[in-house]
Amino acid sequence: MSYLESLRSNLLALTESAASLDAIEEVRVRALGKASDIAGLMKTLGGMSPEERQVKAPLIQGLRAEVTEAIAAKKQALEAAALDAQLASETLDMSLPVASLPQGSVHPVSQVMDELAEIFADLGFAVATGPEIEDDWHNFTALNIPESHPARAMHDTFYFPEDKARDGRRMLLRTHTSPVQIRTMMNQEPPIRIIAPGRTYRSDSDATHTPMFHQVEGLVIDRGIHMGHLKWTLETFVKAFFERDDVVLRLRPSYFPFTEPSAEVDVGFSRENGRRVIGGSDGWMEILGSGMVHPRVIAACGLDPNEWQGFAFGCGIDRLAMLKYGMDDLRAFFDGDLRWLRHYGFASLDVPTLSGGVGA
Ligand code: PHE
Repeated sequence: MSYLESLRSNLLALTESAASLDAIEEVRVRALGKASDIAGLMKTLGGMSPEERQVKAPLIQGLRAEVTEAIAAKKQALEAAALDAQLASETLDMSLPVASLPQGSVHPVSQVMDELAEIFADLGFAVATGPEIEDDWHNFTALNIPESHPARAMHDTFYFPEDKARDGRRMLLRTHTSPVQIRTMMNQEPPIRIIAPGRTYRSDSDATHTPMFHQVEGLVIDRGIHMGHLKWTLETFVKAFFERDDVVLRLRPSYFPFTEPSAEVDVGFSRENGRRVIGGSDGWMEILGSGMVHPRVIAACGLDPNEWQGFAFGCGIDRLAMLKYGMDDLRAFFDGDLRWLRHYGFASLDVPTLSGGVGA
């Protein structure tokens, strides 16, 4: 075997046996680098006679080309194998069942909020939010509850200490979600259709009242809105929420400073085995307050009440959850007792949908 032939088989064998990208780089330096045999052979070409060079040059250059190509091919193969291995190690089989049952559950209040968002989204309502720490103007004044109004005292408001940075005024914990009506009208051009679920606070505590509770506000502002729109919307919502068509609503004249006229809404229940069940009209339970948005409230938000009208409603979410899912003590909602949460909680992956039944 000639020297060139043995060099060739030697280098090709080295190339073939390289098992990693580092190894192939080492082979490349050894086979083609400055100190390599091939580099040495290339240097001998200059000292040859033209006749000898004509014979040897193609052999040496051919060898260099062949080895270069073999190394490049091997490098590519090793890179592809490395990528395959990486992809294989990063595979995630989305269809595999979870190894153990999920520990957490969705709190009934969160569940009901999701159900409300789903039902009202279907009617074209967006979800709006506002701060829980409010100022007096948004919580009261803009809602047509001026300073001396008796309704302020009825709200059992939690006040913060006087704030020097605000001319000695006191911030408060919002007593209802109605300030979100104001914030929405101030920030958004009508027509408006929103619901605003969230936490509210009043200094009150017994089996049916907790200092923190949840409300959902509804607001529609458009042209030519009347009580008929309000009644239809509430009926559609309550039927979808309780998943019964035999739900009966009763609107009673009432008073809220921010609506005129105002109506409190009762839902009819019947008795089955001594328990109250929504549907029928054996008795009535109050579930929400509502009315046509007072022109003064619309004007306070910079809109012309002659052009824009609307309705609003406010509903206790905790109460809705109790009625639908059968809890009878509101305080247990916020005790964080794991046994209660396991019993009344909802599976975290079961998202309420209208087609699947919102409370499924
Ligand atoms: N904000 C009222 C309450 O907390 C409920 C309500 C909202 C009534 C909107 C009418 C219109 O009692």
